[in-house]
Amino acid sequence: MCGIVGYVGDRKITDVVLDGLRRLEYRGYDSAGIALVAKSDAADTRLEVEKRAGKLANLEAALRERDLDLDFGCGIGHTRWATHGVPSDRNAHPHLSADGRIALIHNGIIENFGQLRAELESAGIEFLSDTDTEVAAHLLGREYGVDGDLTAAMTRVCGRLEGAFTLLAVAADDPDTVVGARRNSPLVVGLGEGEYFLGSDVAAFIAYTTEAIELGQDQIVTISREGGVVVSGFDGSPSEGKPFSVDWDIAAAEKGGFDTFMAKEIHEQPQAVADTLRGRIDESGQIVLDEVRMSDQDFRDIDKVFIVACGTSYHAGLVTKYAIEHWTRIPCEVELASEFRYRDPVLDRSTLVVAISQSGETMDTLMAVRHAKDQKARVLSISNTVGSTIPRESDAVLYTRAGIEVAVASTKAFLTQLAACYLVGLHLAQVRGIKYADEVSAVLDELVAAPGKIAKVIEGLDPVRQMARECAGQDRVLFIGRHVGYPVALEGALKLKELAYLHAEGFAAGELKHGPISLIEAGTPVVAIVPSPRGRSLLHDKIISNIQEVKARGAKVIAVCEEGDKIAAVHADFVIETPASPTLLAPLLTAVPLQEFAAELATALGRDIDQPRNLAKSVTVE
Ligand code: F6R
Repeated sequence: MCGIVGYVGDRKITDVVLDGLRRLEYRGYDSAGIALVAKSDAADTRLEVEKRAGKLANLEAALRERDLDLDFGCGIGHTRWATHGVPSDRNAHPHLSADGRIALIHNGIIENFGQLRAELESAGIEFLSDTDTEVAAHLLGREYGVDGDLTAAMTRVCGRLEGAFTLLAVAADDPDTVVGARRNSPLVVGLGEGEYFLGSDVAAFIAYTTEAIELGQDQIVTISREGGVVVSGFDGSPSEGKPFSVDWDIAAAEKGGFDTFMAKEIHEQPQAVADTLRGRIDESGQIVLDEVRMSDQDFRDIDKVFIVACGTSYHAGLVTKYAIEHWTRIPCEVELASEFRYRDPVLDRSTLVVAISQSGETMDTLMAVRHAKDQKARVLSISNTVGSTIPRESDAVLYTRAGIEVAVASTKAFLTQLAACYLVGLHLAQVRGIKYADEVSAVLDELVAAPGKIAKVIEGLDPVRQMARECAGQDRVLFIGRHVGYPVALEGALKLKELAYLHAEGFAAGELKHGPISLIEAGTPVVAIVPSPRGRSLLHDKIISNIQEVKARGAKVIAVCEEGDKIAAVHADFVIETPASPTLLAPLLTAVPLQEFAAELATALGRDIDQPRNLAKSVTVE
């Protein structure tokens, strides 16, 4: 949520900052802005700021018109997901201090901004925007005026701010320095040869370096040509970040011949799932987590699991509940992270909280994690972002290896979350003594086979696209499923809502008759996730009945079913087949056609597939 980039070095500053913003635009695209500090001696031309409402393209056009040909020494850039103040030029970042000497950008929410604003206004400062951010710019300007030391000024300002923030600032009279600060919001440093980068995530500088430093909570960082990277705490004491190497390259952040990032990411799913499984099962068949600050005995002592997550990650959690309860016999609840801490859940040392977050920065999930830790529960996180806040604050971590996901709508992150969640369920089963030893080893074999089957689903997506185009005139699409097909139905509906801006709802198929069936009209598309007809035939029979119920009321039924399911073929209007799979693992396959369905339908409606309206990739506010 909001992309932030900073750069000090000898490359063309404008190019580096804009390039970083282009790669971070998925974090927010309500407005974009840039501040550049010139090396020139003429004091009044040293700080150049440009900002525009709307997508980055608007800022780029404005910059072309200005044709800035100064020699700049450093710069910062911002792409915004609006919280305080509508998306507009005046609310776009950077914001300037009252004397115009400081430019500042911000990701997060400054919760005590009202009180600070009143204080600054009573001191005669005039505000030019409706943002919470502007208070930080004015405070920093005032503090910088005290001793002309940007790092010291930032330290003093951070002591006054409450809430979540990543701040970057430059000063008009210092073309060699960018100062950053972070609390509850992400910030990483990129290390080049004599050049340094700051970014909300590594995508900001992946074109230039794969060496990075992850900053901790309440840290300030100063990057400068002279001094390199200097990290300190909010109390001013020397500190350090944690170095790491980024294991994906620039190609991962490009579309690679696809029309959209989402299309590319759908096609990357077999590899992403294979990568997530690779090396996670040791020679003795035991599952290995990445970072574990819990003993096997701790895992054995667990008597309850809570899964907390948001959006698509929550749907991965819902699938996981079925798997964990079946494989481990431990009660498992799934909770929307945004609700978790407000309802006083019953937690103690023997509760395992599994936090699922692609970004590792989602504020709702982070707050749920902190609440769980306050109640002494153990936290295991599943994340796609190495070193992000949620994994760092967890007792154990399993990273998905989806690589960067640029499209705002999650696809490969979801499938890799499922794969990782299955591993966690199996790990729990293993450390606690496997009740279904044969089943667990068979499931592991099936998991390893999943990437090949996902690839097969992707090869067969043409009819799905055609079906999606035929549904483009509809104002509503319903999704139904049972067992793990229910969360898949929810996920299919979420994808369609966020991409096509259509009314789409997912239902447990058995619930239809308790109300939602009244939504069915002649021609209403109903996508039914049909479980395998093998083995669990009762489940299959029931959903076939539900299909008949909606058909009887005029629905057009699209069945996502196992290949060779003749019964589903008889009852549905249209059939999308997926390879045979154990019921619990089927979401790895059945979710894929629904992603493509949503993307194609949204394309037919002329929507922006990678950057749907009002959304941002990483939601760092509650
Ligand atoms: C939907 C989507 C979101 C995220 C949600 C949680 O396609 O991507 O619903 O799943 O915002 O994000 P993370 O997993 O980063 O915590």
